[in-house]
Amino acid sequence: MKGVVLAGGLGTRLLPLTKVTNKHLLPVHDRPMIYYPIQTLVNAGINEIMLVTGGNNAGDFLKLLGNGKEFGLRHLDYTYQEGEGGIADALRLAEYFSDGELICVMLGDNIIERNIRRATQAFREQKVGAKILLKNVKDPQRFGVPVLEGDRVIKIEEKPKQPRSPYAVTGIYFYDARVFSIIKTLKPSGRGELEITDVNNAYLEAGQLTWDILDGWWTDAGTIESLHRANQLVAQTGANKVDVKREAQEDVTR
Ligand code: G1P
Repeated sequence: MKGVVLAGGLGTRLLPLTKVTNKHLLPVHDRPMIYYPIQTLVNAGINEIMLVTGGNNAGDFLKLLGNGKEFGLRHLDYTYQEGEGGIADALRLAEYFSDGELICVMLGDNIIERNIRRATQAFREQKVGAKILLKNVKDPQRFGVPVLEGDRVIKIEEKPKQPRSPYAVTGIYFYDARVFSIIKTLKPSGRGELEITDVNNAYLEAGQLTWDILDGWWTDAGTIESLHRANQLVAQTGANKVDVKREAQEDVTR
């Protein structure tokens, strides 16, 4: 499985912090924000990673990350998003890189406490379709929100005024190669973007979307409040902890 980190966008919700730099280069406690999603993918055993970025500060990612040596990587791939077409538009640029393989896509402003190893393994076994990770949150109206019937997700609504469940669809997605043909069928949403929620709904309609609950805390860091929260959470409890004891137990029971 290959990994794709999406780190474009204008970060307008963080202005003026993002006036002269990219959101994903801002500090979260002791590291630049972009370190966290890369580390999450590496901890899940994914070591072929592409970073999608854009705007005026794209070159700074290369200066900061180079070939990914700090993460134990030998190489990092980069691509450049022209304009601001949204998450699904950014993902489109990873088609050549993914080369028909399964991919794990992570939004560059998503930070998690633990790891996604179990979900990654489950998707390797699933082989086709897509998988999303849900998290119970206090403010689901800020996110993609699943509508559930029993255990079944029947629909995902993007930033609904009246959320029909207390879950957010986190910015960690698993896809097979069909994702790129789905993206080609999308139309821009009300905010003028190709929405990742429309991609997930297409898989849902095809009966090919599975879901899991994410372990540990999860936050985005794209607003002043959530960036502050991310700083606090990382400072208090750390991020990307590989839970050795629990993994050992999982290995025994598998
Ligand atoms: C995006 C997605 C949303 C998802 C969220 C996770 O929202 O559109 O479905 O729940 O990321 O961070 P955005 O950050 O673009 O508002």
